[in-house]
Amino acid sequence: MLRKLSVLAAAVGVLTVGVAGPALANGGALPAKEVHWSFEGPFGKFDQAQLQRGYKVYREVCSACHSMKLVAFRNLGDKGGPFYNEKYPNSNDNPWVKAIAKDYEVADIDGETGDAIKRPATSADHFPSPFANEAAARASNGGALPPDMSLLAKAREEGPAHIYSVVTGYKAPPAGLKVPTGGHYNQYFPGDLSSAWSGSHEHVPPGGFIAMAPPLKDGLVTFDDGTKSTLDQQAKDVSAFLMWAAEPKLEERKQTGFAVLIYLLLLSGLLYASYKTVWRNESH
Ligand code: HEC
Repeated sequence: MLRKLSVLAAAVGVLTVGVAGPALANGGALPAKEVHWSFEGPFGKFDQAQLQRGYKVYREVCSACHSMKLVAFRNLGDKGGPFYNEKYPNSNDNPWVKAIAKDYEVADIDGETGDAIKRPATSADHFPSPFANEAAARASNGGALPPDMSLLAKAREEGPAHIYSVVTGYKAPPAGLKVPTGGHYNQYFPGDLSSAWSGSHEHVPPGGFIAMAPPLKDGLVTFDDGTKSTLDQQAKDVSAFLMWAAEPKLEERKQTGFAVLIYLLLLSGLLYASYKTVWRNESH
């Protein structure tokens, strides 16, 4: 029985490694850059100042093309969120959240006339999409679709490091690589460049062509907390913000996990002690 089980375990192991192999997942892109995140590890937490800066980058740059449909304005003021403030346990009362929402317009129906109207958003609304529909989004982006950002940081295997690497990963194309119109060479965006490459087959450059022009540059966004606004900083901050957007309950989940671990440890101790007591006078 044991033997069968271990054979089975080995087979499962081989299968998992085979499926999750890095080469397959990246499709020719370089592996994402190493980034140290404040929310890593069992005690990791979001850095609120970073989330606020990241929100500003999303608002002023990325939201022109990328929607974030699953996030409501009030989420920004939830515990662990960029604008959480303990004075406003109900995030609908949070003045930052209200001001941010009011700055957006959402589509609605006039209750009296039934006409389609635009009105300022409220904290209960979700982030509106920058384009009316997918066709409009593609038409504005040379046929490519800017993916929704609500879950992007979790949908990619390399997580927020993938986002960071793509927005910092543009490079002048090497001689011999023919970049198509509307494409941009990016070492961290998956693709197969062999048909655009005139050099030797063994040396096809890593990466792919991405329809998004480099969205960030030094000084593009002014940070209210005085942090120097380099391209690298903007990229890190917006990636952290998007990780929060994709997993707003990350801190809570980690805390619960830790509590469960302590509980299980105590329970094992207790069980062992009672086992010892019950069988105290038996020989075995
Ligand atoms: C002018 C429009 C535009 C802006 C502004 C923009 N993007 Fe994009 N983005 C796109 C398009 C279009 C694509 C799809 C590219 C493709 O498929 O070739 C894309 C793709 C991406 C991808 C790759 C997603 C994947 O599938 O792995 C990332 C990451 C990304 N954008 C991040 C950002 C971030 C972060 C910002 C803000 C700093 C931003 N983008 C701003 C248009 C834009």
